[in-house]
Amino acid sequence: MDIDDIPEINQIEQQVTPHPWRDSQFVDSHAKHSCLSLILNGQIIGYAIYHVIVDEAEILNIAIAPDFQGKGYGRELLDELVNTVTKKAKRLFLEVRASNDTAIQLYDSVGFVEICIRANYYQTESGPEDAIMMAMEL
Ligand SMILES: CC(C)(COP(=O)(O)OP(=O)(O)OC[C@H]1O[C@@H](n2cnc3c(N)ncnc32)[C@H](O)[C@@H]1OP(=O)(O)O)[C@@H](O)C(=O)NCCC(=O)NCCS
Repeated sequence: MDIDDIPEINQIEQQVTPHPWRDSQFVDSHAKHSCLSLILNGQIIGYAIYHVIVDEAEILNIAIAPDFQGKGYGRELLDELVNTVTKKAKRLFLEVRASNDTAIQLYDSVGFVEICIRANYYQTESGPEDAIMMAMEL
């Protein structure tokens, strides 16, 4: 990810999640974490942000632009992230909204397992929602 990618990435972010990051969070992450842009024919269609601390890694954000979802790009981006992180860490963690069936199916299929639930972790317009913590041995 290039720092100049962030406005485009932030536009996608606003469309794909009820809890979007702010522009400043992407800028901050760009300085501190590992950031990937997925580019198709010169257009940014997805992104992933993760960090590695000692032998553990965590996915902080991953998304595909709405028009490109359901076409295999999320799996491609996640596979790339997992392959890269495998060289650096022993375990990979993430957190996902309990209602996010698409993401949970994707994570299940690459080998993530649920390790705990953070009850009422997210505040949504329709009330609180649980977060599921998932982990994968690399
Ligand atoms: C979650 C996300 C990254 C997946 O990317 P994607 O490009 O749409 O997913 P893919 O086309 O690569 O599909 C990967 C798997 O996801 C699941 N999936 C995809 N679309 C789905 C749908 N409409 N319903 C249920 N599962 C679905 C399937 O398991 C699929 O594997 P398969 O095609 O082998 O059956 C994407 O949907 C997204 O950006 N969502 C909004 C942001 C978000 O929720 N990010 C994750 C936060 S934890």
